[in-house]
Amino acid sequence: MAPDPAGRKPEPVREPPAGENPLRLGMRRERIAEPCVMIIFGASGDLTRRKLMPALASLHARRLLPPGFTVLGVGRTAWSDERFRQIMQEAVAEFADRELAAGAQWDAFAAGLMYQCTDLGSADAYGGLARRLTDLDQIRGTDGNHVFYLAMPPSLYPPIIGGLGEAGLDSGDRCWTRVIIEKPFGRDLATAQTLNRDVNRVFHESQVYRIDHYLGKETVQNLLVFRFANAFLEPTWNRQFIDHVQISVAEDIGIGDRGGYYEEAGVLRDMFQNHLLQLLCLVAMEAPVAFEADAVRDEKVKVLRAVRSLDAGAHRVHAVRGQYAAGQVLGRPAGAYRHEDGVQRKSVTPTYAALKLHVDNWRWQGVPFYLRSGKRLARKTSEIAVVYRQVPHLLFGGEARADLVPNVISLRIQPDEGIALRFEVKRPGMSLRMRPVDMDFSYGSSFGLLEMPNAYERLLLDCMLGDSTLFTRRDEVEAAWRVLQPVLEAWDHAPEEGLEFYESGTWGPVAAHDLLRADGRRWRRI
Ligand SMILES: NC(=O)c1ccc[n+]([C@@H]2O[C@H](COP(=O)([O-])OP(=O)(O)OC[C@H]3O[C@@H](n4cnc5c(N)ncnc54)[C@H](OP(=O)(O)O)[C@@H]3O)[C@@H](O)[C@H]2O)c1
Repeated sequence: MAPDPAGRKPEPVREPPAGENPLRLGMRRERIAEPCVMIIFGASGDLTRRKLMPALASLHARRLLPPGFTVLGVGRTAWSDERFRQIMQEAVAEFADRELAAGAQWDAFAAGLMYQCTDLGSADAYGGLARRLTDLDQIRGTDGNHVFYLAMPPSLYPPIIGGLGEAGLDSGDRCWTRVIIEKPFGRDLATAQTLNRDVNRVFHESQVYRIDHYLGKETVQNLLVFRFANAFLEPTWNRQFIDHVQISVAEDIGIGDRGGYYEEAGVLRDMFQNHLLQLLCLVAMEAPVAFEADAVRDEKVKVLRAVRSLDAGAHRVHAVRGQYAAGQVLGRPAGAYRHEDGVQRKSVTPTYAALKLHVDNWRWQGVPFYLRSGKRLARKTSEIAVVYRQVPHLLFGGEARADLVPNVISLRIQPDEGIALRFEVKRPGMSLRMRPVDMDFSYGSSFGLLEMPNAYERLLLDCMLGDSTLFTRRDEVEAAWRVLQPVLEAWDHAPEEGLEFYESGTWGPVAAHDLLRADGRRWRRI
């Protein structure tokens, strides 16, 4: 294996066409990747239809894909290239924009879509794949540059990685090879470590892109800009001024047709190990020395390593779980988790969890981070709320004192992406009464955006460009599992202990509210 087969050469810079407004085109001195083939393992699956192909078609329409860009879809379903193109066209029309799936624009994109019917569980598959790639590289001028995207059942990751290595598809001369691995990355610390070893036996770490689409969200990236490009924030972003932090990722939907997967996973593996702990890292991390992959990831790992362990019974006090029962969501009847397809009638899989974590370092000592996520909650929303301490001494007595609420900076990740600062003002009138108001920045109104850029677009492009800043590193994934491991073990050991059933359409189990009430706090009403 070459020392750094990811081959980060300087990328060509493309200028906007004369007379075009580069900002409107979204291509202000954008870098263009080198020609490449993206091999999607699992091309007949849900992720490809709903996310990957719409993202690629949109990148094509925005002229951000390299010349000769090619997709080789792989699955067991017996499709021809033509059939694959038809199905993908329907998918793009359904899950993205009808315009992207029509006319000359679609035809040009579809000319680069190929399909190969292969059982990747069979060792013979990889020779055929290598031959097809050699042909495609010649026909399409892609120079042997390959991105392998593993959109497959995770049980197949090890044989696929091994198969690629044995077929010599892990690297090449004067070209680059990268591999994108979907979540879940392992199902606990031990399996994640094993998978990392299997992956790194074949691929150099610089070739590996572990994807967490949350990191591709515009508002999540903005969190770094907000923190590290504004001078006013840093002096108060610490234990002296901040009382606590709340991170909420709420979904109003249930598990849909993913019962089999969810029964195995549960909410901690599905949401906390990746999305919520990533958000925690971005809020709590120190300023990296540069906005570069390793510098950013070094700081995130330090946060995860500083999280106080929930072992030795701490999970009983600091972790809460629940499962949705029947109820009403947004005025519509919603059934119980136990009645979903693919779910056991006596299932004890948690669909909601709340954790209280401490980051034991100088900046955050004594500041609790409350994390919650669940399905079938009252509404779909993701938010980080940084709640400040009260002022040390209040000048205004009497009624004013009763009105006082703490300052809050809330970062809305979705929907209605933006940032709000809550502070106190005097109510107009003769008496001295106060009221909290919000100073509110909204992406939609400030930038005239109807829709935020798609996270997968950003991440797919970054991978083609060799930029892994927004992907998780080996030690980071393992550190995240290490945080959750004691809770996972305790919950697996006593699956019914403390499991509370909450009505669909509410804000989760009573115990989650008690978790904060015990500290004299409460969850924000979002
Ligand atoms: N769907 C999402 O929204 C989502 C979100 C985040 C992460 N993910 C992750 O992405 C991965 C894929 O999810 P998905 O929802 O797309 O799954 P899916 O709909 O079940 O699709 C699985 C794909 O794998 C292919 N496959 C399975 N066994 C194969 C084999 N032996 N040889 C060749 N192909 C094989 C299937 O092809 P055939 O059917 O043709 O055999 C199909 O294309 C999973 O790891 C999942 O956790 C999915």
